[in-house]
Amino acid sequence: MNEELNFLLQRASCARLAEPAPSAEELEPMFAAAMRAPDHARLRPWRFLCVRGERRVELGQRFREALLVRDPAADSAAQDKAANAPLRAPLLVVAIASISEHPKVPPIEQRLAAGCATYGLLLAAEASGYAGIWRTGEVAFDRTVMNALGLAANEEIIGFLYLGTREGDCRALPRLAVDQYVAEW
Ligand SMILES: Cc1cc2nc3c(=O)[nH]c(=O)nc-3n(C[C@H](O)[C@H](O)[C@H](O)COP(=O)(O)O)c2cc1C
Repeated sequence: MNEELNFLLQRASCARLAEPAPSAEELEPMFAAAMRAPDHARLRPWRFLCVRGERRVELGQRFREALLVRDPAADSAAQDKAANAPLRAPLLVVAIASISEHPKVPPIEQRLAAGCATYGLLLAAEASGYAGIWRTGEVAFDRTVMNALGLAANEEIIGFLYLGTREGDCRALPRLAVDQYVAEW
């Protein structure tokens, strides 16, 4: 098996992430690789926001506020959990789909292209020796959070990529029985 295919077979998300995260300089080619995603009509229906350092604390406050809008009775444990979520990795990349009207490219295709770009970024990070995990949760679909991050009305958060350096061992990787999902037609 060649090295590239082996890399793809070994790719694994990682929830326990420590410093360091990729630097801005290291991220540049990773984003460039991400943007090689297949993209009908080359709409580039994606954009990304990097959140690191103290800005993660700020984002956590926005998560807390959004929780209180969704659920004014949220207890302090739930509030702290929301506020601490961005601290789970040294770098968060907010992946955004920017949906525009196009005669040949419906919104689903634009979301898929943005999703491919997001996965491309995760792959590029792992290929560069870093680790990460794609998360969403209620915050991703919350208008208060979207407004705080400056999303326009035609934009959606498709995920938060938590990136950093793997802490601990990788868990055993499931190897799916491909023939359960693939058939000849
Ligand atoms: C759109 C999307 C949203 C996800 N949201 C979450 C999430 O909120 N929390 C979580 O633990 N995993 C989430 N996942 C799954 C993880 O990113 C990861 O795929 C999963 O833990 C399995 O690990 P693996 O990628 O190594 O197989 C999400 C995946 C996708 C594609």
